[in-house]
Amino acid sequence: MQPRASVIGLGHVGLSAATCFAHKGTHVIGLDKDQVKLDTVRKGKLPFYEQELGPMLQECLKNGTIEFTSDYKDAVEDTNLTFVCVSTPSINEQNEVDLSYVKEVLKSILAAAESKEEYHLIVLQSTVPPGTTDTILEPLISQNSKKRLGKDIGLCVSPEFLREGRAVEDTRHPDRLIIGSYNELDANTLVDFYKKIYRDDLPPLLLTNSVNAEMIKYANNAFLATKISFINSIANLCERLRGADVNIVARGIGFDKRIGEQFLNAGLGFGGSCLPKDLRGIISVSYKLGYDNDLLGTIYKVNELRADRVIELIKSFVQELKGKRIAVLGLAFKPNTDDIREAVSLRIISKLRKEDASVVVYDPEAMENAKSVLGKDDDVKYARNSLEAIKDADCAIIVTEWDEFKKITPEIFNREMREPILIDGRRIYDPSVYSKSLKFTAIGLGT
Ligand code: UDX
Repeated sequence: MQPRASVIGLGHVGLSAATCFAHKGTHVIGLDKDQVKLDTVRKGKLPFYEQELGPMLQECLKNGTIEFTSDYKDAVEDTNLTFVCVSTPSINEQNEVDLSYVKEVLKSILAAAESKEEYHLIVLQSTVPPGTTDTILEPLISQNSKKRLGKDIGLCVSPEFLREGRAVEDTRHPDRLIIGSYNELDANTLVDFYKKIYRDDLPPLLLTNSVNAEMIKYANNAFLATKISFINSIANLCERLRGADVNIVARGIGFDKRIGEQFLNAGLGFGGSCLPKDLRGIISVSYKLGYDNDLLGTIYKVNELRADRVIELIKSFVQELKGKRIAVLGLAFKPNTDDIREAVSLRIISKLRKEDASVVVYDPEAMENAKSVLGKDDDVKYARNSLEAIKDADCAIIVTEWDEFKKITPEIFNREMREPILIDGRRIYDPSVYSKSLKFTAIGLGT
């Protein structure tokens, strides 16, 4: 019999998991406390931009394999497993991870499961510091439920690794599945669930304890961040070398199977809701455990300095930014999302404004989110398209590598801009073409 699952927290991770499980035929109940979000998803619409997910959700709603609620009894009583996918934001100066949503959700699941006779498995997908399940969540379950942990109620850690913008692909075809639990019943229940979901497509499955599962998630994101800051530090060096080009260097080292070609795109660094937060999280955990993690601290610092590098590059063409009209093309932290959390665009805009530049911004998807953060500043103008953004600008910066920006030819920049200075922050243009007729520079490009 196909198990029934509930998913708590309908953000990127939760809604993608719920929809993909439902699309594979499992009956899924998605829960969120936000009524607006529930109304949106019940209509088959998405509360965020994510290609491919919308049509899948609509199909599942039509087939009746997915439903939504804000009531824990609905979500728990009628299902065998509950996936917890709520966020764990960082808080305070020490960047400790805020577990309040996870704890609140666990207590609500326990209350709803109390009268249930059958065994129920809780699967933690939210990212938590290593050791959290053993030292905080298991005691919380014992204190808040009469049920016996590992017998009547189970708890497994199973981190997700999905990328925004590729949520469907990553949830349907994960590179691997990690299951952290000491308990055989819990681990087997989740293995069976995943086997039913992925069938012949079952990826490598690693069974371990909860602390390793939690650590794997942190280490995974820290390693990805390391690759990005590493190549950006090589980019800084290439910019100081005549004839050097970081893209060619990245290609050359990427052929080495021990290194691999992915995540070596030099640019303006990493943003988003995960990489920066999880890196701060692992640094904070290291510190608490008495280990000053210099390496990861430097990875973070290299990333923080990417916005300064853009300002330096503009200043290699113009001495003063005051009064200059600068077009910022791209606000989302990466293409194919409307997410601007920890996006480098925000830091660049703030630096430009500090120097009294007038800023025009455009992003194909993130304008509304940007307006809510940047607010009303008479010197930040919101363009309706990329041409309007670059019109009469003194300088344009490519901050996010959206496909539509790749179509802007040197002729268009020359025609629309006042002073065609172009800074390619994401290496989307061929320097040999663009530098012929424009004042052009790009990240990682030697003099
Ligand atoms: C990331 C992880 O990839 C995912 O496994 C985890 O579960 C959540 O965090 P996401 O935040 O969606 O996913 O974005 P990702 O595609 O990893 O990109 C992160 C940032 O790094 C973006 O700002 C992107 O522009 C930047 N990046 C990525 C680079 O600057 N260079 C690269 O080569 C790759």
